[in-house]
Amino acid sequence: MNLSRDIRMTPSILNANREDLAHEIEKISAVSDFIHLDVMDNIFVPNFTFDFDAAKAIIQSSPTPIDSHLMVANVDEVAISYAQAGSASVTIHVEAVADVRSTVKGIRAAGARASIAFKPATKIDDYAQYLDLVDMFLIMTVEPGFGGQAFMEEMLPKIREARRLIGERPIWLQVDGGISLETIEMAAAAGADTFVAGSAVFNAENPEMMVQALREKARLGI
Ligand code: DX5
Ligand code: ZN
Repeated sequence: MNLSRDIRMTPSILNANREDLAHEIEKISAVSDFIHLDVMDNIFVPNFTFDFDAAKAIIQSSPTPIDSHLMVANVDEVAISYAQAGSASVTIHVEAVADVRSTVKGIRAAGARASIAFKPATKIDDYAQYLDLVDMFLIMTVEPGFGGQAFMEEMLPKIREARRLIGERPIWLQVDGGISLETIEMAAAAGADTFVAGSAVFNAENPEMMVQALREKARLGI
């Protein structure tokens, strides 16, 4: 048990009502540490969500800081634009970036936290060299592209491995995909401390209470 590990809830608005995002964000703002914004380009993943201008409008109007998760190809330049637009955190996929080092440096120089994400098939060991340059690791626990998929329990060893690599560094460890009341505790026990949940939150009758319930469950796993 490591009681010193803080928990952060970063609900995803992917499955919220896109016609009224301001209201959807309002429902969970008070209990969320960040709002997780899934940006998809229909190239890196087979789905499209927001173009840069639409995403920027959300980033700049949200009362809660935005955690931008970029699932886009050729992410090097655009990642820095997302940081400049005011994202509190920008996550790039290692599978989509040409130069990890310069891109995470650019994100930080623009004032955002820098994070690198891993698809389920991507091994993390090769990326240990970037540990001193990033603020968060994101382990995907589903194939990126869609909300509402089942949590991949076979990712638990990878979460443990990431926690081991992080060691005493103040790097956050985020999990994304299939996080629910059934799965959050095992993800926390494996070492995660920052939790994306999309459909679990927005399919709930009371999204705000669900975020709080998820946070309590995660605490049990730490
Ligand atoms: C999937 C996205 C997730 C998604 C999670 O590619 O990165 O953030 O919104 O949705 P759930 O929680 O429904 O799996
Ligand atoms: Zn995401």
